Amino acid sequence: MKKLALSVVAVSFSFAIYQDCMQCHNGIVAVDLSNFPPSYIIKKMKEFKAGRAGSLTMINIAQEMSMKEIIYVAHKYGKKVSKKKKK
Ligand code: HEC
Repeated sequence: MKKLALSVVAVSFSFAIYQDCMQCHNGIVAVDLSNFPPSYIIKKMKEFKAGRAGSLTMINIAQEMSMKEIIYVAHKYGKKVSKKKKK
């Protein structure tokens, strides 16, 4: 029972982080993530996760996230590359 409650907390916490990407990455506080292809975001998040580069802010965020979550947000917020768009 205790274990279940803990995992519920963990899930809601990481969900809050997803939402928070755009609070900073809106082109005002930090770069707009939709400028980057998902592969770039994943690569950078891996570097942050390893603590090799970046600000403490991004290192802390990346280390709280699983690779699954990183891939998810990269596609959610990254540049949409799957659909061909011509104008
Ligand atoms: C509290 C504000 C904040 C939040 C929330 C935040 N970031 Fe960042 N992020 C920054 C800042 C500031 C930088 C620039 C400094 C650096 O590179 O560490 C940055 C840099 C980055 C970069 C590198 C951009 C480049 O120019 O190469 C990526 C990719 C990134 N963040 C992804 C994310 C993702 C994905 C999330 C959500 C899971 C997220 N960030 C949430 C503030 C934030």
